Amino acid sequence: MSTPATTEPAIRLAGARKVYGTGPGALVALDGVDLEIPAGRFVSVIGPSGCGKSTLLRLVASLERADSGTVEIRGTSPEEACAQKLVGFVPQTPALLPWLDVLQNVTLPQRVNRGAGRRRLRHAPDGRTAPDLPRLLREVGLGEAMHRLPAQLSGGMQQRVAIVRALGLQPEVLLMDEPFSALDEFTRESLQEQLLDLWDEITTTVMFVTHSVTEAVRLSDTVVVMAPKPGRIVDVIDIDLPRPRGAAQLKTADFHHFEDLIRDRLQSAWRDRPTAHAA
Ligand SMILES: Nc1ncnc2c1ncn2[C@@H]1O[C@H](COP(=O)(O)OP(=O)(O)O)[C@@H](O)[C@H]1O
Ligand SMILES: [Mg+2]
Repeated sequence: MSTPATTEPAIRLAGARKVYGTGPGALVALDGVDLEIPAGRFVSVIGPSGCGKSTLLRLVASLERADSGTVEIRGTSPEEACAQKLVGFVPQTPALLPWLDVLQNVTLPQRVNRGAGRRRLRHAPDGRTAPDLPRLLREVGLGEAMHRLPAQLSGGMQQRVAIVRALGLQPEVLLMDEPFSALDEFTRESLQEQLLDLWDEITTTVMFVTHSVTEAVRLSDTVVVMAPKPGRIVDVIDIDLPRPRGAAQLKTADFHHFEDLIRDRLQSAWRDRPTAHAA
């Protein structure tokens, strides 16, 4: 076995293009998307509705295929990476199995995959033990709720269950599509904090879609700014703020600087969009 190169990105897209439909009605959901995400980073993707954020995530999750360009996870195809259970996905609505209690829901992927002979891809940090899911549930405040059914939980609790479940197979890449957007602001801020704590504990690369500027700045090492028509990346901004980023951090001048920067980029992308002068 050769010594693994440590520079291989966790996620790499090069010239990725995705078109929905054909002929005059065809819609270019993504065009010329180049992005490299190093292992272990927390990257948010932000942009107005319809700019292709979900499509981008779905390409990485192997739920869609690019029409041209390449998409790779750890140097392999998304299909192969997903088959190897290297990818966790948290959708906008938590999709828990209603007849299983909280603990059964989060341990299901581990139970289904037990003995499946999961093989880690090259460069993967081997030898890690599976996370202690009951402990993670307690850490996100669900210790008392372990034996409740999803219908007996609030939206915020359900989303916490979905996040712990996605972490159960120790994904190398965790993809989250606006997981907190349906939640009220207090719940949302508390879940951001819990997500950061979990990410600190379970080293994984995160790609997090949001349309909240504050959320993007708080969570991320890097924010990818997208614009629509065609869906594309217009900026990649590193958030050079210290961690941990508790509630007090949100009020600092440095934090506001990054919020303003991202808002400016979003606004100029919107102003300069190709269709702005049409009809
Ligand atoms: N399955 C699909 N078929 C046709 N058009 C789609 C499909 N999925 C998304 N689109 C279109 O592609 C564009 C990008 O969508 P999406 O990736 O969902 O954007 P976002 O997540 O940023 O709101 C939108 O114009 C949307 O209407
Ligand atoms: Mg979306």
